[in-house]
Amino acid sequence: MIVAQITDTHIVHGVPDAGRRIADLARTIADINALDPLPDAIIHTGDIAHGGRPEDYALVASLFATARVPVYVAPGNRDHREHLRDAFAGGPCRAAEPRFLDYSVEEFPVRLLALDTVTPASNKGEFCVERVQRLIERIDADPAKPIAAFMHHPPFVVTVGPDPLNFTSPEALHRLQHALQHSGRVIAVFCGHVHRSTGGWIGAIRAMVATSTATTLRKGEFPAHLRDRPIYHLHRYDAAFGFSTEARIVAEADDDGAVSAVGSGARGAAGRDRRGDPAEHGLER
Ligand SMILES: [Fe+2]
Repeated sequence: MIVAQITDTHIVHGVPDAGRRIADLARTIADINALDPLPDAIIHTGDIAHGGRPEDYALVASLFATARVPVYVAPGNRDHREHLRDAFAGGPCRAAEPRFLDYSVEEFPVRLLALDTVTPASNKGEFCVERVQRLIERIDADPAKPIAAFMHHPPFVVTVGPDPLNFTSPEALHRLQHALQHSGRVIAVFCGHVHRSTGGWIGAIRAMVATSTATTLRKGEFPAHLRDRPIYHLHRYDAAFGFSTEARIVAEADDDGAVSAVGSGARGAAGRDRRGDPAEHGLER
């Protein structure tokens, strides 16, 4: 089983690098489509649209429609639950309880649990008692299969970011950490939010953070020839050894900055705003 992870695409109109963000997502999906073997699924760990407008989700949905494998989403602090849910009507998140966009994907050797760590009160994560109960019920629903949980906010202390605590309180973080360790069947956690590749542990559970798919928003230093190339994570599952994670750099773009495998809308956007505006990138999380 292979899971491709993208995150923090922050699709929005009206910013200098709007076209670049769209192109980065389109190029990443095209790159995933060209993998051999194909992954079994794509997960997006949130901040899909920066501002949560329906028209931005509609654009994302049209790009996801070009993917050759199913795409599953978890909400980020910049997302809007209802608009996100509406944009992906018919997918598993449709069955989620109205207040929380959490659900499970059962058709793979590893169960995928999407968690909702969002609160309208903060850009940081929240995990209330009700969500703990929902997570534990989901974990207990299948006592056999291992589980990979994916969510926006990293549920561990992040030492490379400006703030090590990405939840509203240590108590909220500890509630989620405790719930994830219930049963011992959660073997991996995949998240975003930090816009920088990093990792940590929740007890014995390995947790990985993927950098922002939007190249103008990711943190860290990159050599010039890589600054235009999105990076995503491939998580490969082995029954004996669990998940191993590879950071993959997408193929180089065509001369006009586009990838031929994607639709005309993305291709038109790809040539614009190639570098974006660095001054606009500072506080996007
Ligand atoms: Fe973000």
